[in-house]
Amino acid sequence: GKSGYAHFMHKEIHEQPESLRRTIQGRVNSLTGTVALDEFPTDAFADVEQVHLVAMGTSHHAAMYAATLLAARGIPAYAFMAGEYSLARPPVTDRTLVVAVSQSGETADTLDAVRRARSAGARTLALTNVVASSLTRECDDTLLIRAGPEIGVAATKTFTSQVTALVLLCERIVADATGASSRESRDLLESLSRLPGDVQAVLDTSTAEAVARAYAGSDAYFFIGRGIAHSVALEGALKFKEISYEHAEGFAASELKHGPLALVTEQTPVFVVFSGRHDEMTLNNAKEVQARGAPVVAVTSRTDGEIAELADHVLSIPETHPDLAGVAANVQLQLVAYHAANLLGRPIDKPRNLAKCVTVE
Ligand code: M6R
Repeated sequence: GKSGYAHFMHKEIHEQPESLRRTIQGRVNSLTGTVALDEFPTDAFADVEQVHLVAMGTSHHAAMYAATLLAARGIPAYAFMAGEYSLARPPVTDRTLVVAVSQSGETADTLDAVRRARSAGARTLALTNVVASSLTRECDDTLLIRAGPEIGVAATKTFTSQVTALVLLCERIVADATGASSRESRDLLESLSRLPGDVQAVLDTSTAEAVARAYAGSDAYFFIGRGIAHSVALEGALKFKEISYEHAEGFAASELKHGPLALVTEQTPVFVVFSGRHDEMTLNNAKEVQARGAPVVAVTSRTDGEIAELADHVLSIPETHPDLAGVAANVQLQLVAYHAANLLGRPIDKPRNLAKCVTVE
């Protein structure tokens, strides 16, 4: 049941401290500051030369997030929409790791991408929530995200668990490929252990309902960010349009001046996602939209005067490692989408035209 919540989505949003704890459970060796993923033998990823992440929808945004992290650590990594990957057929070798990210493990486009990659000689890994799903049978290896069952069509706790499991996988790939555990890695894993508590803090203090109320009836809702915050912005917009039926779009903050800025008016609130990396550049983008009269909602751990001056509203997240800040930021945007849809009386758990699992291409 919904345990007292009006919707499964709201319940699942609130389950995240627990689901994230399960995702991490037993997978970090806090003594050595290294990732322990017993699913894979020692040095399992030592010969990986590049990583292709394939997925659709929300899972694609988790894949983008991970590609950004891997590339920053020196591993060539690219995220593809699975449906496009099959057509584009980027070259692979037996040293290409294809990671298929799928909550259900049954998404047709994602299964098709994996089949093609595998028959072309790539190594495949399923990152999924569902034990014994088709994806786990088609792939060489599996890493379960352990988020627990998700009933709402809108993916929430599975996104945060995907990102978290991908952070662990990335650390393991980097450790195997470089043969060393780094200081960087220890800092990240230390912050990772605090992540469930950080998400709890967001749930306890979020002003997302007031924000949704303040901007109800706007012409459109825009979401911007750079680096990992770009994928979080895209995911914020997808969640918003999916359940509220309002026009919502996510953009790379860097892309704004190349077209989307033409859409920005006093009637289009812009959610600006900060991660703690490249924040000064993103602040400049926020100033650009503010100059066009758009309300600015900053999603950030910053509390300084510059943010206060710029933002009409702040959705606060605890200070954490910049590679993880996107998780807490995403939870704020889940709540904004939920409350916006709820104010409009939408059927939140079963949005029109959509299915939980898309089994045709
Ligand atoms: O089961 P999957 O993760 O493969 O599903 C992929 C998408 O269909 C899914 O994430 C969809 O975008 C969600 N409804 C978004 O909330």
